[in-house]
Amino acid sequence: MRKEKVMNRWGWLCPWLAILFATGVLMLWGLSWWTALLSALLLVCPALMLWGLYITRPRPAEPSAPTNGMTMNWAAPFYDIYCPAVGLGRGFRAQTLNYAAIRAGERILDVGCGTGVLTRMAREAAGQGGAAVGIDPAERMIEVARETALHEGYDTKFEVAAMEALPFADASFDVVLSSLMLHHLPPATKRQGLVEAYRVLKPDGRLVIADFARPANPLWWLVLWPALMMPSVADNLHGRVPSHVREAGFKQIKLRGQRAGLITFWTAVKEKGGLT
Ligand SMILES: C[S@@+](CC[C@H](N)C(=O)[O-])C[C@H]1O[C@@H](n2cnc3c(N)ncnc32)[C@H](O)[C@@H]1O
Repeated sequence: MRKEKVMNRWGWLCPWLAILFATGVLMLWGLSWWTALLSALLLVCPALMLWGLYITRPRPAEPSAPTNGMTMNWAAPFYDIYCPAVGLGRGFRAQTLNYAAIRAGERILDVGCGTGVLTRMAREAAGQGGAAVGIDPAERMIEVARETALHEGYDTKFEVAAMEALPFADASFDVVLSSLMLHHLPPATKRQGLVEAYRVLKPDGRLVIADFARPANPLWWLVLWPALMMPSVADNLHGRVPSHVREAGFKQIKLRGQRAGLITFWTAVKEKGGLT
């Protein structure tokens, strides 16, 4: 609960950062600081008002799932615009699915699915007889995911749930995908979530993770150092994801690739006869 409040504080920081960022850009274009600030407010405020209207509208009946991870209800209305704008569009999703090597008829679970872009692509890859389910504790993310799937004609299922308490039977999925999600969980919850991923995978099931790792280029620390104050992100940036995966019982843990020297792809397997 405490972490949920911390997340909300970070969420509300975003508009102010947007105003500062817009002011900085306008100053680079040669405006004085006060003209730049005024123009930034004029540009950003209407967007903020629309956002305010969205997040204060009646909430869906289903409440968010309890978690001490950083949920992202606040980002639901613009998440699908934001991701491609920062280079995390369909190319990034396709790369993630490439490492998953999904075969026709397989059952896929996407943990922390957000608005469900990857879940829907995974459903396509699983073809006839396959299935894809997305879970996220943020009910607004799930609301957008369900609406988009309905609109685009997908039979994907989306449920409000947290990775550390998956509402699925043991050995019910062939693949678990975790995209840009683990850095939202404090270390102990991350380990608990990975144990849950292990439990719901069938023997020989695969785990695919795309997330932040220790930056390959030290220049990244110039912008990333404030993130070290958040235990969930710091844990990733210190390179601890593979050891959490190993502790959960997974084998064949492989680093498969990197994007921009920061977002890293790992795969791992729940070997037959491993921990049960
Ligand atoms: C950066 S978004 C990534 C969304 C999507 N997987 C993608 O690749 O775009 C991180 C998501 O993790 C979710 N999240 C936070 N805590 C979680 C938890 N305990 N279990 C599962 N998801 C969680 C957030 O609500 C958010 O939607």
